[in-house]
Amino acid sequence: MKALIFERNGEPSEVVHWCELPEPTPGPAEVRVRMLLAPVHPSDLHVIRGRFARQRQPELPASPGSEGVGIIDAVGSDVSSTRVGERVVLLDVPGTWREQVIGPADRAIPVPAAISDEDAAQALINPMTAWAMTMCEHQLERGDWLVQSAAGSTVGRLVLQIAKAQGFRTINLVRREEQVAEIQALGGEVVLCTADESWREQLTTATGGNGIVSAIDCVAGRTGATLARQLAPNGRLLVYGALSSHRQTDPAAFEMPVFAPALVYSAAEVRGWFIFSWLARKGVSESSRTLRSLLDRMAEGTLKPPAARRYSVDRALEAFTAAERAAHDAKPLLVFAER
Ligand SMILES: NC(=O)c1ccc[n+]([C@@H]2O[C@H](COP(=O)([O-])OP(=O)(O)OC[C@H]3O[C@@H](n4cnc5c(N)ncnc54)[C@H](OP(=O)(O)O)[C@@H]3O)[C@@H](O)[C@H]2O)c1
Repeated sequence: MKALIFERNGEPSEVVHWCELPEPTPGPAEVRVRMLLAPVHPSDLHVIRGRFARQRQPELPASPGSEGVGIIDAVGSDVSSTRVGERVVLLDVPGTWREQVIGPADRAIPVPAAISDEDAAQALINPMTAWAMTMCEHQLERGDWLVQSAAGSTVGRLVLQIAKAQGFRTINLVRREEQVAEIQALGGEVVLCTADESWREQLTTATGGNGIVSAIDCVAGRTGATLARQLAPNGRLLVYGALSSHRQTDPAAFEMPVFAPALVYSAAEVRGWFIFSWLARKGVSESSRTLRSLLDRMAEGTLKPPAARRYSVDRALEAFTAAERAAHDAKPLLVFAER
């Protein structure tokens, strides 16, 4: 079997290569998944560069990849053989950019037939992030308001779909004027462009001068700092990314200055949010229940990951470039097997 492997940290275009490995055998409680598709997320590229969370940096050599869809083609002695042939997504089994992946059987979650391979391949990281932050952390109810940055991102668009289904309302920040109408068309009640110098005042007006009760931010820098400064009494901002620093090359842009008096007087909270910490906190059974419910929403059509574009493994470098291109229109998916 073949796998995309990196033996040292560096630019993905230089350090990732396609190599032959022995066919892996599942242990007693494990399954082997013949991978069909796995997405290239910007965070996968940060792992390759060695710039991701330390606890998520694998021992090298390793395969990158944080999720994907495939078919179970072998099971361990404690796993029912009826699972062979099941189409599954992997619940936090890192290293998916390979033809065969071994994982615990309870982390191989069956995919309803109505879901395409392209959608299933992206079912975990971004949909779970959008769902967990809005429904589990902020516990938004019908009529509540959420402020989000980078509303045009994959997570941002999924949040808009969840808002429509669950009835909460959104104030959205985008960085390009062209995105304003697009995000409004997706149901964003208020859309502000951070290229407009008066966006901070517009944000104050949009919250009725009462401040922000619930917010999520993946931009950090001055954008995140502004959201933190406008928090309402007991308001809460979850910071889940730092897109201000393109490719994480400008550490200064990670800084998100907090205006202390505003934070103190509002007794507000600014907290980091990381899907893998959340999954670990919830444990496999609750995490898999949540993933199954997201798959059900995808099957019934109320939750739809973004359009995807397939890249054969020999075009992996193009997929890496596409994953970080500004204004990209489709999530790049690596193809490991055709059905
Ligand atoms: N903490 C977690 O567990 C977790 C989980 C999932 C995702 N994330 C993070 O969430 C972020 C979004 O991920 P994604 O997969 O949804 O991204 P994505 O689909 O690749 O989209 C990136 C978006 O961010 C916008 N953007 C890029 N740089 C920006 C900047 N400096 N200011 C404002 N907007 C900017 C882009 O706008 P344009 O259209 O103008 O280019 C684009 O809409 C990433 O930082 C990712 O690492 C974190």
